[in-house]
Amino acid sequence: MIIAIDGPAGSGKSTIARELSRRLGFEKLDTGAMYRAVAFTALDRGIDLDDEAAVDALASAITIRFTPGESGGSITVDDRDVSREIRTPLVDANVSKVSAYPGVRTAMLEPQRAVAQNHDVVAEGRDIGTVVFPDAEVKVFLTADPRVRAQRRVLQRHGGDVADAHALESEVAETLASIERRDALDASRDVAPLVAAPDAVQIDSTAFTIDEVTDQIADLVAQKRGA
Ligand code: DC
Repeated sequence: MIIAIDGPAGSGKSTIARELSRRLGFEKLDTGAMYRAVAFTALDRGIDLDDEAAVDALASAITIRFTPGESGGSITVDDRDVSREIRTPLVDANVSKVSAYPGVRTAMLEPQRAVAQNHDVVAEGRDIGTVVFPDAEVKVFLTADPRVRAQRRVLQRHGGDVADAHALESEVAETLASIERRDALDASRDVAPLVAAPDAVQIDSTAFTIDEVTDQIADLVAQKRGA
């Protein structure tokens, strides 16, 4: 079975996909991490991100691998662990440019589909239910109020523990601006934009806990299995 979870930055996709895959014993596929790995590697190797052909060539040449494990597992590019490097504000700011290139998206498609060949999968991203797995048995489009999404991202960054409320407030404002910029880019690109599949169930997670949203999706899975 394939469960597709799409939605904007900070909507809770990663946490919910992790919890759901743990509960169901499915593999988790974090496709955003793959685009981040391409962006990080391009920056690291001094490739001009405006040079579409060079970024496309890089995306086709590198080997990206996931190793499942605690707190989301690890991701490697040509055997180098880049799990931490792909989560920096610099990568946040540049990943939408790279992920809008059709050549990059094509290069990511085959490795994404390969994960589902021998496994049940919870896959999260922006185009899972529309492009990567249009036949996924369960499709969810997860949203949340933008300010709540920014707050969640900041808390996540600090491991849930922030002592200085003022510093927190300015970081939330910056993060809100950054995710709104990224959402606009992701939703307006020509190829595989961020849109809900017509057959996706839309869940607004603003007022729900992780467990509550996970329960809702687990119910959808149970309905499918019973059908
Ligand atoms: O989910 P995330 O924030 O880690 O995703 C990083 C970026 O990658 C996001 O801004 C858009 C892009 N992305 C994409 O275009 N398609 C996907 N399936 C997943 C992510």
